[in-house]
Amino acid sequence: MDHFLYRDGALYAEDVAVADIAAEVGTPFYVYSTATLLRHFHLFDEALEGMDHLVCYAMKANSNQAVLRTLAQAGAGMDVVSGGEYRRARAAGVPGDRIVFSGVGKTEEEIRTALQGGIRQFNVESEPELAVLNASARALGVTAPITIRVNPDVDAKTHAKIATGKSENKFGIPIARAREVYRMAADMPGLEIVGIDVHIGSQLTDLAPFEAAYRKVAELTETLRADGHDIRRLDLGGGLGIPYERTNADPPLPSDYGALIKRTLGHLGCEIEIEPGRLIAGNAGLMVSAVIYVKSGEGRDFLILDGAMNDLIRPAMYDAYHDIVPVTEPAAGIDRAPIDIVGPVCESGDTFAKQRMMPPLAAGDLVAFRSAGAYGAVMSSEYNSRPLIPEILVKGDQFAVIRRRPTFDELINRDTIPEWL
Ligand code: LLP
Repeated sequence: MDHFLYRDGALYAEDVAVADIAAEVGTPFYVYSTATLLRHFHLFDEALEGMDHLVCYAMKANSNQAVLRTLAQAGAGMDVVSGGEYRRARAAGVPGDRIVFSGVGKTEEEIRTALQGGIRQFNVESEPELAVLNASARALGVTAPITIRVNPDVDAKTHAKIATGKSENKFGIPIARAREVYRMAADMPGLEIVGIDVHIGSQLTDLAPFEAAYRKVAELTETLRADGHDIRRLDLGGGLGIPYERTNADPPLPSDYGALIKRTLGHLGCEIEIEPGRLIAGNAGLMVSAVIYVKSGEGRDFLILDGAMNDLIRPAMYDAYHDIVPVTEPAAGIDRAPIDIVGPVCESGDTFAKQRMMPPLAAGDLVAFRSAGAYGAVMSSEYNSRPLIPEILVKGDQFAVIRRRPTFDELINRDTIPEWL
C-alpha cells in the first residue's frame, strides 16, 4: 500500500497534488511519500517484534539525506556498501553503532573511515578482507566487530543480475568453508566475531529461497557455537520483493517474512538484523514526467517523454516493469490503445514500455511511474548531458525539494580544460 492515490480526478502524493509539484519544479522529477516510507519501515519492525532486532535500511536503494533522516528518526539502522554511503548515513544523523558495512570490495581507506567513525559491524566477504580489516584495526588500536557473509548456494529465483546467493556469484564465502574461515578470523586479534551474515538476492517474490538459506544459517550457527565461537547476531540481508504489477500474485508480506525468521531462527536466541531496501523505498516514490510528443510510427505509436533511461534505468537494465499512470485520472471506461513509451535519449534501449495499454495522452500531459522510489534516483546519470532530476519529499500537505535540479553551468563546469588546450 502507498499514499499515491487519485482524488477528484487528480493524482496526489499524500495531500499534495502531483501536478502542483510539477508546476513548481518542472519535469521530470522524483517524489517520495514520508507516510509510505515510515509505513514500510514499521511493517518490518513490527514483523520482528518479540525478537531483539534492528532493521538496517539498505540505503543503496535511495540514499537522499532527507529519506535517511526520516528513517533514522523512526529508529532504523543502515546497511552501507561504500565510504560514501557511510558518510551519508553519518551526515543524516545515524549513529555508528546502528551502521553495518557490507560489500565485497571494501578498501583500506573505507575500512579506516568506519573504524574511526564507529561501526556496528563489518560483514566480511573474503579472507583477504579479513586480513586487511585485522591490520587496520590493530593499527588504530581498536577491535573490529565482524560477521562473515556466507554464500549458501541457494537459487533466489530472481533476475540474474540481482541474484547473489549462488556459488557462482562473487558474494560471501562458500558456506562449506565457513568453519575454516571463522577459525582464521578467531585467530586475528584485531577482530571480534559477533555473528553470521547472509543475503541471497533482491526482488524475491517467494519465501522458499529465504527459508532454504536461513535453515542453513541456523545449522551453521550451532556448528560454529560448538566450535567455540560466540555467534550472537544474525544479519539476514534484504531482498523481499514488491508488487510492480498489480496482479493477483502479490509477493509475501513483511509479516510473513518475520514469521519465517521466527520459525527458522527464533530458537537460537540471536539478535536479528535485516537489510531491506526496495520494500521500504520502492513504492514510496514516483517518477513524474511530461509527454513531449505523441508520434505515429510504422504500425505503432510512440509516447515520447521528457524522462529517460538516464533518470530511471531499471526498464533498460533489467527489463523491469513499472506501472505508468496519467496524473489526470482517465475517465472511467475510456478506450485504451497500445503505445511504446520512450525517452529522448539516442538509443533504442531508452524504452520504458512496449505496447502498453494507455488512455489517449497529448503533449504536455503528465505521467507517473509507480514503484520508482528504490533504485531510481540513485542509479541515474547525466548521459546525454541531461542534468540529474530533482527529488521532492512530501509529508501530509507539505512538500520540499530535497535535491534540486542542477543548472547547466554546474554540469559543464565540473569539467576542466587543461592549460595546453
Ligand atoms: N543487503 C545487501 C548486501 C544487498 O546487496 C542488497 C541489494 C540489499 C541488502 C537490499 O536488497 P533489497 O531489499 O533492496 O532487495 N538495482 C537493482 C537491485 C540491486 C540490489 C543489490 N543489493 C534493481 O533496481 O532491481
